[in-house]
Amino acid sequence: MSSRSKVAVIGGGGNVGAAVAFSIIACGIHADVIIVDAAEKLAEGQALDIADASHLSPANCCVGTFKEAGDCDVIIITAGARQQPGEPRSKLLNRNYSIMKSIIDNIKPIKETAVFIVVSNPVDVLASVIQRLTKLPYNQVMGSGTFLDSARLRNNLSEKLKISSSSIHAYILGEHGDDQFVGWSSATVAGTPLLSYDAIKDLDLNEIEKDISRKAYEIIEAKGSTYYGIGLHVAYLTRAVLGDERKVIPVSTFIKQYDAYMSIPSIVGAKGAEPVEINLDDQEKEHLQHAAIKIKGMCDQLNY
Ligand code: LAC
Repeated sequence: MSSRSKVAVIGGGGNVGAAVAFSIIACGIHADVIIVDAAEKLAEGQALDIADASHLSPANCCVGTFKEAGDCDVIIITAGARQQPGEPRSKLLNRNYSIMKSIIDNIKPIKETAVFIVVSNPVDVLASVIQRLTKLPYNQVMGSGTFLDSARLRNNLSEKLKISSSSIHAYILGEHGDDQFVGWSSATVAGTPLLSYDAIKDLDLNEIEKDISRKAYEIIEAKGSTYYGIGLHVAYLTRAVLGDERKVIPVSTFIKQYDAYMSIPSIVGAKGAEPVEINLDDQEKEHLQHAAIKIKGMCDQLNY
């Protein structure tokens, strides 16, 4: 009999964590999900609410402890302060760094094969923090990175080009933050570079890039935080790990060449995430270098 996979959502008392847990249930992923949060009452409430939906799904959901989280196959971290309207993700660093430290202290010992999916912001720096604190191999720690931003890009292009977003292969690369950029040189439709399409010539590419990077700010301004979009994307990552799907997804992963966690397309499977080689033009390489310097600078400032 195969044992069921265990997934912990740490910070599951909050909107993002609850949306992740609910999405795992709604996607029908075969797993037992535990909701863990320092705010125990909230965690209990979210778990009870989500569990009401679980008879329609192969997944279960209940409240769990930090110690139980350490024994899970996938450990998702959504805990921490969230952006205020107009506040960049980078401003959350000091507050969320302390929270990451206390989470890792509390969940030890950690299952040797566990895969971490860090969602809390600034996600690239915090993925690096979690890797250093857990000392797990780099591939076992990923950040949700620009997976969501890339979906925003594909939806935006889909509307403009009247082509299904699933047939547009285009990625937001680098930082999940204000320094993200579109990898136009690797963007394709039907194997043909997007930039060679006539229809794209009428579009303002800089404006599109700006719109994508502003999207989270727009949502936060209107409703306080973003959670449904990220929730489903993290469920999709969870399924890719548990099913060893080896899907190519832009997540924040350690890129040796730049010595930093940043987003580029990566293969996501049972062992976590491994970056794949993609074509970048000189300007995009410069962009990545710039993002790496910024992310490393934030890591160094933590002094750990
Ligand atoms: C966003 C959050 C996940 O971009 O940072 O919606």
